[in-house]
Amino acid sequence: MQVLDAIKRNRSIRRFTEQPVSRTEIEQIVNAGRLAGSAKNRQPWTFIIVTQRPTLHVLGECGPWCGHLTGAAFAVVLTVQNLMDPPTLTTPFDLGRASQNMILAAWSLGIASCMATIYEPEKARIALRIPDDHDVPWAISFGYPHPDADPRQRPPRLTGRLSLNEVIRWERWEK
Ligand SMILES: Cc1cc2nc3c(=O)[nH]c(=O)nc-3n(C[C@H](O)[C@H](O)[C@H](O)COP(=O)(O)O)c2cc1C
Repeated sequence: MQVLDAIKRNRSIRRFTEQPVSRTEIEQIVNAGRLAGSAKNRQPWTFIIVTQRPTLHVLGECGPWCGHLTGAAFAVVLTVQNLMDPPTLTTPFDLGRASQNMILAAWSLGIASCMATIYEPEKARIALRIPDDHDVPWAISFGYPHPDADPRQRPPRLTGRLSLNEVIRWERWEK
């Protein structure tokens, strides 16, 4: 799949079939995250791959919009050391780059995904034995898309995009 085509067609999918994803494909996907550039090349992440259903179930209860993790074929839990100490935007930016690499790599293999914000990190910390000096801000569910999970059925406000004209300025702010 061409990169531009993958970018245009990718949408979040929150319901998956029961078909497992092979270890080879999981490693290809997470490797795409590993290859992302990061500020000062710090590579601040450790990616925890979760395939066991009881653990996925716990992850699905780590916040009000995390439920899609429960039915995933696997999840990648993003952990970072001392997320913002001192406060900096670079670590979330780095995690975003790694996440998008994984999401697009998966999409190119026919595997769908959705981000999840971890609002109750203590639950994830206990289940995954994440040390106290690491934060666990987001996870990503992955799996083969369920036929009933067509993102075109979602309201445009949840999946549409502003037009190019609405989000760009040429040369300076004022038109
Ligand atoms: C940082 C971030 C956090 C997100 N957290 C959640 C989440 O907790 N639960 C969820 O269902 N979707 C989550 N999403 C997915 C967005 O809701 C989704 O990307 C957005 O609505 C656009 O829809 P689309 O990806 O289908 O185009 C998150 C996306 C990002 C980038």
